[in-house]
Amino acid sequence: MSPRKIIIDTDPGQDDAVAILLALASPEDVELLGITCVAGNVPLHLTAKNARVVCELANRPDTRVFAGHDRPITRALVTAEHVHGKTGLDGPALPDPKMRLQDAHAVDFIVDTLRREPSGTVTLCPIAPLTNIAHAFNRAPDIVGRVREIVLMGGAYFEVGNITPAAEFNIHVDPEAADIVFRSGAPITVMPLDVTHKALVTGPRLEAFRALGTPVGRAVAEWTDHFERFDKEKYGSEGAPLHDPCTIAWLIDPTLFSGRRINVEIETLSPLTRGMTVADWWGVTDRPANAMFMGDVDADGFFALLTERMARL
Ligand code: RIB
Ligand code: CA
Repeated sequence: MSPRKIIIDTDPGQDDAVAILLALASPEDVELLGITCVAGNVPLHLTAKNARVVCELANRPDTRVFAGHDRPITRALVTAEHVHGKTGLDGPALPDPKMRLQDAHAVDFIVDTLRREPSGTVTLCPIAPLTNIAHAFNRAPDIVGRVREIVLMGGAYFEVGNITPAAEFNIHVDPEAADIVFRSGAPITVMPLDVTHKALVTGPRLEAFRALGTPVGRAVAEWTDHFERFDKEKYGSEGAPLHDPCTIAWLIDPTLFSGRRINVEIETLSPLTRGMTVADWWGVTDRPANAMFMGDVDADGFFALLTERMARL
């Protein structure tokens, strides 16, 4: 079967970095058409830099990286340096990128690619606030029907929030953008905290990355070592949740995950619960299903895949 054509929309972010590496390490499964960057974990100038740092770590300076929006559609930007560090990629010391950003704006790249590629062949993998995707859909409604699938990391139901008691970070930062995407009618697969909080980089899993003895293995171990502090303190969890790579792992081996098709709507009005994904997991409303909402992951299988693929780089 030919590899899935994908665009990763990202705000690196240590877990974003591992998702990008997983995609670059899996050419038989995914063809990475480009990486579009957005403000989120850290401001845009850093996410656009970090995406290139990761591509060069993977020895793929040919990857096309685009800068997108530097703030949410209507709201002020909320960042997460408290989780990811000042640079957004705290952990290993990696060299500044030499590869350049593409001249085109990320949203132009998304629109042009979806119009150029045959309809139903391009998958969008947003692992950040949905600002770029929403702008693309607003600007070019004709592309919505051409999207094969949106596989996004965001939201939560049983896990509730990680940035507020009610909301997960990616949705909280730009709820209006998320509302546009979830109402768009495009096929959506959601990797919420309910799943990603089961994909924890425990000690043995971290050591397996380090034992690869490669620059990539070391970087992944040091990123997750840094990144886990927030979750350990907050949840007492044993290791960092590798949120964003779950999207790429779904494309490589969907049998690792299970969930259900449900209705998901986004809270945009209440200051208290802004960005909450109101997921009708129990089917108590007659609201039509608009998303495949994941609820479980085979964590050992996920880390076996991830470690095997990191060893390729
Ligand atoms: O809530 C987790 C999400 O927010 C991940 O995508 C992480 O990178 C941050 O963007
Ligand atoms: Ca992210």
